[in-house]
Amino acid sequence: RKKVIIDTDPGIDDAMAIFVALRSPELEVLGLTTTFGNVHTALATRNALHLLEAVGRTDIPVVEGSHVTVKFSIMNLQAVSFSVHGTQKATKLRIASFVHGSDGLGNQNFPAPASKPLDQSAAAFLVEQANLYPGQVTVVALGPLTNLALAVELDPSFPKKIGQIIILGGAYSVNGNVNPAAEANIFGDPDAADIVFTCGADILAVGLNVTHQVVLTDADREKLEQSDSKYARYLSKIMGIYFDYHKDAYFIKGVYLHDPTTLIAAVNPSLLTYTEGVVRVQTVGITRGLTVFDNTKKRYAEMTAWSGMPTVKVAVTVDAPAVVELMMQR
Ligand code: BDR
Ligand code: CA
Repeated sequence: RKKVIIDTDPGIDDAMAIFVALRSPELEVLGLTTTFGNVHTALATRNALHLLEAVGRTDIPVVEGSHVTVKFSIMNLQAVSFSVHGTQKATKLRIASFVHGSDGLGNQNFPAPASKPLDQSAAAFLVEQANLYPGQVTVVALGPLTNLALAVELDPSFPKKIGQIIILGGAYSVNGNVNPAAEANIFGDPDAADIVFTCGADILAVGLNVTHQVVLTDADREKLEQSDSKYARYLSKIMGIYFDYHKDAYFIKGVYLHDPTTLIAAVNPSLLTYTEGVVRVQTVGITRGLTVFDNTKKRYAEMTAWSGMPTVKVAVTVDAPAVVELMMQR
């Protein structure tokens, strides 16, 4: 079984992805690490614990990640202990409560979880697991890439020890979803994304060019509602606000399966095709968060920020019906 760590900001589509992972015999979930994005990190941790409790899987550890972007976190780095609580003003983070509800899970007012996160930072957990199982751990990153960037800063050999990093992040030759330039997870911490994309790890990026083809319809939601499975019924309950948002923002009667598609890339990589090249992330200005992908293999005359950079794989096509079917099945 493939050992996976899910780095997540739950989040409605994160919840779907986590449940697909728990129902996939191909995967062994080593832990959930949390990040800000759809909600602040403290709430992401609470939601991760709650999701595991809701389906009786409290055997899986939850590890809290950074509360702030990589720049602010590094500023707060102490000599011996790695601080995850920085001083960045909350208003500087982009939190997508208008997409997922102010609780991140469709405004359901779930009770506070009884379980607690591990007493460790997400970055330290990522490094620890990579050392424990060198070359064998896949990180499925479903939120901003802060924790992974911190793991690279904490241990420069992390990129070589981690098996693979599968990222929901970026928009390759299509517009973003936060603004025309940027996809939400990259926009959340562009500096972290640029560190991760150029760190030399085996990286597979799944972007909006692919996930906007994978739509869960109203009819699928009804099937989930009617299902005997506690996983399916739970998800059908929290999805309402996510459907409303897609109707308002994209004029579609369905929802994009960003995070589940990315998780499914770990379960069955053959459902997507990929092309390889260098990805760099714009970190300033009106295109902050833009992912620029070069797979031309051209030798440019001047290309200082690009030449010799490690390449990553970027998803270009997806078997959308097969992804939706697998998600529904699981
Ligand atoms: C990504 O942003 C979040 O809203 C979703 O959970 C997904 O990870 C899509 O851009
Ligand atoms: Ca997410």
